[in-house]
Amino acid sequence: MVQRTLAIVKPDAVAAGNTGNIIGLIEKNGFRILAMRMQHLKRAEAEGFYAVHKGKGFFEELIEFMTEGPVVLLALEREDAVAKWREVMGATDPAKAAEGTIRKLYGTNIGRNASHGSDSVENAATEVAWFFRGSELS
Ligand code: CMP
Repeated sequence: MVQRTLAIVKPDAVAAGNTGNIIGLIEKNGFRILAMRMQHLKRAEAEGFYAVHKGKGFFEELIEFMTEGPVVLLALEREDAVAKWREVMGATDPAKAAEGTIRKLYGTNIGRNASHGSDSVENAATEVAWFFRGSELS
């Protein structure tokens, strides 16, 4: 089924100059970019986006990291997009990610892991709508 998912190039990857490499992998893997924007997230935007993780031990660290510099937000579309994007990113912890995946190539540790992807079709719809208006999706 054709699905949409939200991808984020995280601050570590943007700062390290890996945005282009990651967008290249997005295109190489057959995703259509519906919308794309660079943005330096405000604390409230990051906290709202990651609200599901509020109360977890790593929440503050996650918010600090996601607001330390600009990110690149992308709404992607493809057959089976949610699972496929998670496959291209690799495991959350770069040390456990498969060779050739984004997190293996460009991540540092479980916190600074270069990219984000929605974890379900339902969350993907919420996450895309968190950052993009319907009229921005081409
Ligand atoms: P992401 O896919 O963006 O979704 C939630 C993020 O929380 C996850 O990637 C990790 O970067 C981060 N995260 C998950 N577990 C930990 C942890 N134990 N320590 C620090 N950050 C974590």
